[in-house]
Formats: sequence, C-alpha cells, structure tokens
Amino acid sequence: MRGKFITIEGTEGVGKTTNIQYIQDWLQAKGLSFVATREPGGTPLAEQIRDLLLAPREELVCNTAELLLMFAGRAQHLDQVIEPNLEQGLWVLCDRFTDATYAYQGAGRNMSDNLIAELETIVQGDLRPDLTLILDVPVELGLKRASDRSEPDRFEQEKTAFFQSVRNGYLRIAQQDPERCVVIDASQSLASVQHDIQTALEAFWLASRDTE
Ligand code: TMP
Repeated sequence: MRGKFITIEGTEGVGKTTNIQYIQDWLQAKGLSFVATREPGGTPLAEQIRDLLLAPREELVCNTAELLLMFAGRAQHLDQVIEPNLEQGLWVLCDRFTDATYAYQGAGRNMSDNLIAELETIVQGDLRPDLTLILDVPVELGLKRASDRSEPDRFEQEKTAFFQSVRNGYLRIAQQDPERCVVIDASQSLASVQHDIQTALEAFWLASRDTE
C-alpha cells in the first residue's frame, strides 16, 4: 500500500510548527509510519537551496530564478525523500509544497499560474498531495506573531500587501480544490485549532481506509 502525502500550508506566523508537532503525535497514535519533512529543503542539497532562497541579500533575486530554485529543490526532495517513502508505504508529512509556489510566486510575485503548472508537471508528473491543511489567519496577526520570533528572512521582509496576496492565493486554491484542501481558522485558541485539525485528519483517515 502506497503511503499518503499530507502537506501543511499557510502564510507567516500561522502556527505551522506547533501544529505539525500535533499532527505527528496524531500519526503516531494511529500507529502509522511516517516521515516529516519540509520545503524548501528536505535533503542536504535542497536545504542548501533553501538557505540560498531565504538569506536576505542586497542583490535582487529575479522571480524566475526564485521559481526555478523552488522547483530544483523540490525535484531533489521528491526523488530522494517523498517518492521513495510513499512507495514504501510510509506517510509523508510535508511543511509546505507546491501550493506555496502558487501562493508566493504566483499570487505574491504575480508569476503565471500556467508557467507554475508546467513546472509542476515536469517535476512532479501526476503526484499531488492527498490532503492539504491550510492554516489561515489575518495577515497582520500572522506577521505580528512571526516578528516576535526571529530576524526576518528574505520572504518575511516583504510588505503586508505581499502577504495579503499570498493569503488570497491560498484561499483561492482551497476553493478550487475543496476535495483535497481544508482551511483551518488558525486565529482561534490552540485547542480549537487542534480540534479542527483532528477532525480533518480523522475524516481523511476514514475515507482513505474505505478506499483500501
Ligand atoms: P518557512 O518554512 O519558515 O515558512 O519558510 C519558507 C519560506 O519559503 C516561506 O516564506 C514561504 C517560501 N516558499 C515559497 O515562496 N515558495 C515555495 O514553493 C515554498 C515551498 C516556500
């Protein structure tokens, strides 16, 4: 049995780290074998690409270079981690995936969805996540949470309007693909957020057992 591919998405400061830990605990409690990974990153080479992408720099990074670096890391990550683990029956829990490219490079940087879709097909073939949880908070709240945390990386240095576009990009993806995507209101209390995540996971798990 092939494993399931779950991705977690959202703008800055939505609480991905805490909630990914919660999802790992849920997977463990269900007795499911899994790997947790992230994008950009997830292999030594892809982590180096991540560092290149996130480092603040004086040189302006052109949109095409940024987009291709995202997909270069993703190709490596798919080849070395995601595909082999799914193939072996493990579940893969990934902190961000190609929806982030549609949201950040597409909606945020105004790059064409068609171009992203072409690269998506070249790099991924038919592979898409089985379930995507989109953690959603108003942009100001997320940025406030993120700024309390650490020095801003190259993306976090963007203006509020950029993140507003990114958030709208995610909400549009969720509307277009309601079978796969669940939007979680992450401005609620942590207990309520985790309750909603658990509900989504249980529903997905039951449905995936029915189709076995
Ligand atoms: P994070 O993992 O700390 O959220 O940082 C990763 C950053 O990379 C985040 O600002 C979103 C950005 N990103 C993209 O712009 N496009 C992508 O395809 C991915 C995976 C991430």
